[in-house]
Amino acid sequence: MALLSCVAFAGCQHEEKSLSVIPIPLEVDLRKGAFVLDGNTKLWIDAPEEDRDLLQECMARSFLQLEAATERPAGNAVILEIVDSLVQLSSPEGYAMTVAKSGIVVQALSGAGLFYAVQTLLQMVDRGHVPLGRIVDEPRLAYRGMMLDVSRHFFGVDFVKKQIAAMAYYKLNHLHLHLTDAAGWRVEIMRYPRLTELAAWRTHALWKDWWNSERRYAEEGAEQAYGGYYTQEQIREIVEYARKHYITVIPEIEMPSHSEEVLAAYPELSCSQVPYRDSDFCVGNEQVFEFIENVLTEVMELFPSQYIHIGGDEASKQSWQSCPRCQARMETEGLTGADELQSYMIRRVESFLNGHGRSLLGWDEILDGGLAPNATVMSWRGTEGGLKAMAMGHRAIMTPGEYCYLDAYQDAPHTQPEAFGGYLTLQKVYSYDPVPDSLSVTQKKLLYGVQGNLFAEYIPTEEHLEYMAYPRMLALAEVAWSVPANKEYGDFRTRVLEAVDELRAKGYNPFDLRTEVGNRPGADKPIRHLGVGKQVAYVDGSAYYSGYAAGGDSALVDGLRGGWTYGDRCWQGFLGCKGVDVVIDLGEVMPVGAVSADFMQICGPGVFMPVQIIISSSFDGKSFTELKRIDNEVVRDDAVTFKTFGWEGCADARYIRYQAVRSDFGGFLFVDEVVVN
Ligand code: ACM
Repeated sequence: MALLSCVAFAGCQHEEKSLSVIPIPLEVDLRKGAFVLDGNTKLWIDAPEEDRDLLQECMARSFLQLEAATERPAGNAVILEIVDSLVQLSSPEGYAMTVAKSGIVVQALSGAGLFYAVQTLLQMVDRGHVPLGRIVDEPRLAYRGMMLDVSRHFFGVDFVKKQIAAMAYYKLNHLHLHLTDAAGWRVEIMRYPRLTELAAWRTHALWKDWWNSERRYAEEGAEQAYGGYYTQEQIREIVEYARKHYITVIPEIEMPSHSEEVLAAYPELSCSQVPYRDSDFCVGNEQVFEFIENVLTEVMELFPSQYIHIGGDEASKQSWQSCPRCQARMETEGLTGADELQSYMIRRVESFLNGHGRSLLGWDEILDGGLAPNATVMSWRGTEGGLKAMAMGHRAIMTPGEYCYLDAYQDAPHTQPEAFGGYLTLQKVYSYDPVPDSLSVTQKKLLYGVQGNLFAEYIPTEEHLEYMAYPRMLALAEVAWSVPANKEYGDFRTRVLEAVDELRAKGYNPFDLRTEVGNRPGADKPIRHLGVGKQVAYVDGSAYYSGYAAGGDSALVDGLRGGWTYGDRCWQGFLGCKGVDVVIDLGEVMPVGAVSADFMQICGPGVFMPVQIIISSSFDGKSFTELKRIDNEVVRDDAVTFKTFGWEGCADARYIRYQAVRSDFGGFLFVDEVVVN
């Protein structure tokens, strides 16, 4: 493993040695030999009492249960000490660890630094042996997060604690809990008991069944009521457990949207004031602010985090358009549209949080209509929101869907349990660089960190959640902690294979990387055919959707096959009722023996197979001869499917026309290439 091999070190004997540590440390200098931990090895911690207790507990939880020394030992010891300065380090979470024959000395600027050194040490020990040498390490990014969605499916306290332990082991330091959403409210709020008597329970256990039903809530204790919530005592337990792992828990309380459950329990807070009608709070109603402030007051008492996440994403803002209270609010506040009305709400809530010494964090939609003065933006719809926030002098946390949404398929969909869609491999997560060179020095300072998100619509069980989280969370951890110069996927994969075995031995359920199938055949390198590089005309109003343009006008003849997701910029999407209707000009008349194109279907996001295909040829581009007409029965199902529709035969042609007709399901058609041979 070249990356961790020894660097030149005058006067010392080195050997090419490797460490299987995740995330990969900043500098590693290993030498021949090992310090051997034995029954007499003592532990000495020189740190303030609070950190000492946490570190002692951390060691006691681990397999390294060393006896605490009563005075600083001269040898055969693990010494953890907080020092005033460490010249090589700039982060308070960094550490320097020296392993000598006589023992291990770790120095750090804070308890967190010592804690991370211990995580490194735990990963380094091999049957009591710790390789000699020195490690100097610190995180690239201060915020290293994971988000768990406990609303779509509810996960209990012990399970959350188990994930906290794994996060800490890989040096993540923030757990963002998505506590509220239409699918269920998950935190006890004393002042509003209906949030947990009603809004925490629903009629169907599986989110998908519930979502496709009437979306009704159920009384706690009712037969078949599915759901749950954390009592305030349980929240304190989670927060305290996280603290012991140097992890901060950030609560997310969604507003103004994703709030159907609140508005079912307290319909007076919606524009219609009728349950089961709206998804957004009524911003014109003062009672709403009273509610939010009361809820946040209890939330702040439970969560000591600097940040309170207020959601802010995907508001329809529909009901505000016709709501007299919202309209009146806009009038009196001089707001010119729904975006500004949302911004008004977020600013008010920010001011409330700031008044209590807290900071507001929200999804990137909080930029719309004007960003609240001190807000931090969590950029999920790509990185643009984060970049924009930083350009305005605000902090950003990067969590772009393309790299950070661990609810996507991690391998070929037909080999995997149903997922949200997409295709996000371990390698792709690993390839993400949240701090590209193109950022200015100021932006780099404002880029607070990176986060993986586990939305749980399609994750109903604990086993499944771990399967989606691991090992991709480890890639995310290395993205957040390690410098790009130390990162190499082949090396990481080798370490991950060991980590997966370790996770399994500890009772986690990681995806088995050894069985990985990989991308869709043909998607990895360009193909050749007669149409490549030729002219494509989009006929009679058939046009691709700008959001899924792939390579634009040349996408269907660029030789690039799409992979397992229509979001990979190789699939071209067609939304209009015209479907696909393209003519490829081969430049001259030539013999053609086959024409085909692949389509994909994934019903959740509304991507369907065509109901009919017509393939024709022409000499002049005006008069076409039909070569083949294919009728296709489109069936709605849970699978992600791919299908080739083509003609084979013998024809002379200069022009090839390929038409695909949308089914009655509507939605998108996605096609990656019209292959002419
Ligand atoms: C989100 O995925 N709606 C933040």
